[in-house]
This record gives sequence, structure tokens and C-alpha cells, in this order.
Amino acid sequence: MNFGPVATLLTFLVLSCVIAPCRAQTNKIFQWQFTGNALSSSLPSCRQFQIQVKPFNPANDTHGVPPFYMMAFAVGGTPSTTLIGTDESNLSWTVNQPVGSQLLLQVVDSQGSSGGVPPNLFTVVAGQSTQCIPAASNDPPFTVEANVTDTLTTCQPWGIKIKGGTPPYDLTLATVNSPVVTNVTMGPADDQFTFIDRANPNTQLIAAVSDLNGRWAVGTPIVKTNGSSNVDCIGLVSSSGNSTVIAAQEKAASATSKAALATSNAVLPTSNAPLPTSNARKKTAGDADVMVTLLVLLLAAVFTT
Ligand SMILES: *[C@@H]1O[C@H](CO)[C@@H](O)[C@H](O)[C@H]1NC(C)=O
Ligand SMILES: *[C@@H]1O[C@H](CO)[C@@H](O)[C@H](O)[C@H]1NC(C)=O
Ligand SMILES: *[C@@H]1O[C@H](CO)[C@@H](O)[C@H](O)[C@H]1NC(C)=O
Ligand SMILES: *[C@@H]1O[C@H](CO)[C@@H](O)[C@H](O)[C@H]1NC(C)=O
Ligand SMILES: *[C@@H]1O[C@H](CO)[C@@H](O)[C@H](O)[C@H]1NC(C)=O
Ligand SMILES: *[C@@H]1O[C@H](CO)[C@@H](O)[C@H](O)[C@H]1NC(C)=O
Repeated sequence: MNFGPVATLLTFLVLSCVIAPCRAQTNKIFQWQFTGNALSSSLPSCRQFQIQVKPFNPANDTHGVPPFYMMAFAVGGTPSTTLIGTDESNLSWTVNQPVGSQLLLQVVDSQGSSGGVPPNLFTVVAGQSTQCIPAASNDPPFTVEANVTDTLTTCQPWGIKIKGGTPPYDLTLATVNSPVVTNVTMGPADDQFTFIDRANPNTQLIAAVSDLNGRWAVGTPIVKTNGSSNVDCIGLVSSSGNSTVIAAQEKAASATSKAALATSNAVLPTSNAPLPTSNARKKTAGDADVMVTLLVLLLAAVFTT
């Protein structure tokens, strides 16, 4: 085996981690549930619930590192992160999202390790009080929106746009009924993310955004996922970019292709341009295949582990 392709691949991987740094995350350390677990999916506002955490794998006595936090992602609203305790055996969360919110919930520890997302969304219903709920404010405006809001099919690109806040942005991708949550840090000038849907079909996926100051963007989009459970999506890569630059490139590209179309009849290819030898052609194709496959494996690993 020659090391040329490997070196190219490593350069490529390093570059892709510069574009969208892959934050080190330890998952599948612990899991959580509401104590008693006899809870319906309705949560009365401002009621306090006890929370239990236990090792992810019953055969391996692993623990999260306190303190623990509840992250409540309100669909179309603003996520909240709330301290739920420093003693693993004494954790509780008070329902502090507005009445009517639909919530995707996860417990995380101080190291950013996720305790997973339960199989259903929760709905906040009117409880004895609403006084624990912080007043909503979006001033100055900081919003996130997606270009698909109903159903996303496996391998379909999901465009996430961010306005306001202070870059760089962190994107949190989470699905209902999943032991893992994925965080991506976007580049310092990036305000647009294209996510290739590698989530399992028949679940629900949210994208939440926070900024440099830890402020959460309003608008957290959600989609249902459908399509194939083969999530290889060969050759498709999630990416982050700058919306102004992307729009300019798209404009330039469409102008170029119109110009090319207009002149394509006039310009004939010259016949004396050297053709690639079949060996060179084969080698290039082989390298590209290796790169694409390994990159896909890397991204699949980032999203599924
Ligand atoms: C227990 O979990 C730790 C941390 O994830 C891991 O390093 C170790 O290999 C696991 N041990 C067993 C027996 O599974
Ligand atoms: C549990 O934690 C609360 C504060 O979060 C504290 O007031 C209470 O005394 C603790 N209970 C036990 C049994 O440690
Ligand atoms: C992901 O990012 C959020 C916001 O930056 C952070 O609070 C959280 O601990 C990170 N980890 C997970 C697993 O969500
Ligand atoms: C959503 O945006 C992405 C780019 O971020 C694009 O590739 C995709 O085609 C768009 N989808 C729709 C339905 O507009
Ligand atoms: C995107 O690029 C434009 C033009 O280069 C720049 O003005 C803008 O600040 C960039 N966006 C972000 C989020 O940095
Ligand atoms: C996924 O949902 C969309 C929109 O509801 C639909 O058009 C499409 O046929 C579905 N695809 C599959 C594979 O179920």
C-alpha cells in the first residue's frame, strides 16, 4: 500500500475538522429517567420531578461527572439548560418551559456527556403555577430556522440558517429515542449549516443553536424523518458555511453555466490535449473512493457514537 492516499486523506480529515470541529464527546456513560417512570408525556408547569441516573450498561458501573443539567429543547422555542443537582442520587428538575411547549429532553453531565433522549416528546400543561418560567425575550434577535419543516428523507440535505447572536455557533442535533446527541462547532464566519440526514428514519430530529456566550437561539426547528435506514449517503457530506458567500457562489455558478451553455456550440474541444493514461485514471478514482468512504465512515461515527 502506498501512503500517498493516506496522507491526502489525513490532510482532508484535518481540514474538515477545522471547518466543523468535531468536539470530543463521551456518550453512553449514563442514562436517565424520571423517578418512578410512571409519568405520562404531560408535564405540569413549575412542578418538580425527581430524576434518576444509572450506568448506561448495567454490566459496567460507569457514572456521569456532576453537576448534572437538564436540557429542555422547546420545539419552535428557546432551549434551556438547568442545573438539576450535584449529587447523583438527588437530582430534580422543575418544569420551566412555557405552557404548551413540546419538549425534547436530555440530561447532560459537566463533561457534556449525554444521558440520552427518551422515546417521546413531552408537552408542558398548565400546572399549579407558571411563576418559575422566565419571561420570554428575544432582544437583540437571535434566531434559527430550517428550510424543511415537515419530513426529511434519509440523505436529504437540511439547511439550517442562523441570524444574530455571537459566532462561532454550536449546533446541537438530537433525535427522539436516542442514546446520543451530536454537537458541532461551526466555523467563526459560518451562519449556515447543511446537515445530510443520517438520522434513523421514523423518528424526530431537532437542531438547536447556541452562541459564543452560551445564549440559545429562538426557533429550534424539528422534522420527522423517513426513508431508508441505510444512512451511508455515499459522497454526501454535512458542511457549514457563510450564507453570504454561498449565495454569491450560487449566483456566480448559475451565471457561468448560462455563459457556458451560450458558447458551448461555438467552442470545440481541441484534440491534441493529452488524455490521461488508463493507469492514472484508475489511481485517481481509487484514491477518491477511499477518501469518500473513510470520510463517510468518520461522519457516520460522529453522528452515531
Ligand atoms: C466500561 O466503560 C468504560 C468507559 O466507557 C470502558 O472504557 C470499559 O472498557 C468498559 N468496561 C467493560 C467491561 O465494558
Ligand atoms: C437534595 O437536594 C436538595 C437541593 O437540590 C436539598 O435541599 C436536599 O436536602 C437534598 N436531599 C438529600 C436527601 O440530600
Ligand atoms: C452540546 O452543546 C451544548 C451547548 O453548547 C452544551 O451545553 C452541551 O453540554 C453539549 N453536549 C451535549 C451532549 O449536548
Ligand atoms: C435546503 O438547504 C440546503 C442547503 O443548505 C439545500 O441543499 C437543500 O436543497 C434545501 N432544501 C430545500 C427543500 O429547499
Ligand atoms: C459572512 O460573510 C460576510 C461577507 O464576507 C460577512 O460580512 C459576514 O459577517 C459573515 N457572517 C458571519 C456570521 O461571520
Ligand atoms: C417521506 O415523506 C415525504 C413527505 O411526507 C413523502 O413525499 C415521501 O414519499 C416519504 N418517503 C418515504 C420513503 O416514505
